[in-house]
Amino acid sequence: MSNNTAGTRAETEQGAAQSVDWGDAISDGGLVVVSNRQPYSHTYDGDDVTVEVHAGGLTAGLDPVMQAVGGTWVAWGDGDADRQVVDENDCVPAPPDDPNYTLCRVWLDDDEVEDYYYGFSNQVLWPICHSALTNVVEWERYWERYRSVNERFVDAVEDHTDAGDIVWFQDYHFALAPAIARERVDDDTVLMQFWHIPWPSWDTFRGCPHGEAILEGLLGNDLFVFHVPRYRENFLRCVEMAIDDADVDHETGTVRYDGHETQVTEFPMGIEVDKIAERAGSAEADEFWAEFTEDYPVADTVAVGVDRLDYSKGIPERLRALEQFFERNPEWRGELTYVEKGSESRTQIQSYKDIQNRIETAVERVNDRFGTDGWTPVLFFDEYISQKALAGLYRHSDMALISPLRDGMNLVAQEYVAAQIDDDGVLILSDQAGASRLLDAALMVKPQNTGAFADAIERALSMRGAERRARMQHLHEQVAENDLPTWTGLNLRAAMALRDGEGSVREPGLPTGG
Ligand code: UDP
Ligand code: G6P
Repeated sequence: MSNNTAGTRAETEQGAAQSVDWGDAISDGGLVVVSNRQPYSHTYDGDDVTVEVHAGGLTAGLDPVMQAVGGTWVAWGDGDADRQVVDENDCVPAPPDDPNYTLCRVWLDDDEVEDYYYGFSNQVLWPICHSALTNVVEWERYWERYRSVNERFVDAVEDHTDAGDIVWFQDYHFALAPAIARERVDDDTVLMQFWHIPWPSWDTFRGCPHGEAILEGLLGNDLFVFHVPRYRENFLRCVEMAIDDADVDHETGTVRYDGHETQVTEFPMGIEVDKIAERAGSAEADEFWAEFTEDYPVADTVAVGVDRLDYSKGIPERLRALEQFFERNPEWRGELTYVEKGSESRTQIQSYKDIQNRIETAVERVNDRFGTDGWTPVLFFDEYISQKALAGLYRHSDMALISPLRDGMNLVAQEYVAAQIDDDGVLILSDQAGASRLLDAALMVKPQNTGAFADAIERALSMRGAERRARMQHLHEQVAENDLPTWTGLNLRAAMALRDGEGSVREPGLPTGG
């Protein structure tokens, strides 16, 4: 059982993006999503079976998509009661309280989880793609099971796919599956993949064990999509450098290799803007805030951060900037509280244990140094809160500090903007997050530049109302233009264009950088 569970919920709060015109996109076939993480797991609570959801952008984004589109979602069944509730095909209707798609589970044994999930996926590919080479561990013992688990997921894809379907692989857990599937599925089946994390430069990727096999695996896709152009460009360059026989066209984003063509492009992932605004304005959001401020010593001005506890999120760097801010601005002591809503992640991995310890130590340091009887500068909590409560936390926070060292997108930045229904919050955002490309009215920081980060906090606190509102309205527009239905439509329409033989999904002459 994984340990980054966000919590139990009876109701489905993520809601479906129902209002979207999906453009008949999948009328001739079904949609089969394949991800490692499942949107819902079933666990035992004594003799009762309860449903849990996990923190993470992939499932947070794809669940509403599946609720709107329908289809089959294939994922690792990691809950201890998962087998109890599935049918003879290992499937269960989802979401549990109001089903409109089918969740089909793949069972992994402990060795597979160790080597494929904790090993090659999260101690080789994740750190390499986040340019954190010092966190890459000895890999050879993980490789074989990474490959065999990719094959097992393709077995499940075969079980659940018909000709003309779209098979949509998600993320770095399945770098080999597309090429394996290409050999096995019907020619009319579209294979596509969304890569939720960054793709590094060639200079970093060349350190990747089995890098060539990984690139070849991904080139089994008809369509391969990133959040931003920079990752696409990095990928194309890696293919060019690593695979002699690949023919790469940077302008159209096309790779021809081994008799097959892959279109490579970028569609930035968005969120359900209206849904989050609605939650932020709900009575439950206000109730959460009223209770929270009663239970905890929260100052009049609040800054917020919401993260999986991952070394890529820049949390110690953020706490250093806050420390410098309080050092320089004694008049703000007692007046500003930073609330960190964390969520445990991948805790069996040493680098994740280390980052959690570093965060704990940094929180204690700031609180010991500046805290008083009536005021705690940093409130850290990792209990599950509902999506409405989370929206309340965003709404009532005067600023958000989002400081990843590297992040594919960062949906939390977008969620904070959507929840600012009074237009009065300030977003401080790392320029290393994919989201920085969309959200250019944020105050941009480099997380390790502590002095400039502290300056940005000062600037946010002294910003006049008119500027705050103007920036937030601009951010709203940007988030609304790139929302989740838009992202879904772009992906599915591109897939259909390929299935229907309509050629390139990128217009020649589109920008190649950024
Ligand atoms: N999240 C949550 N509770 C937490 C931390 C995160 O519900 O304690 C959700 C958050 O609202 C967002 C997703 O998990 O929808 C995180 O996505 P993001 O892209 O920011 O980061 P990731 O965790 O995918 O790296
Ligand atoms: C990121 C990854 C996802 C992953 C999520 C949570 O968003 O891109 O693939 O599901 O983190 O991590 P976990 O290892 O718990 O699934």
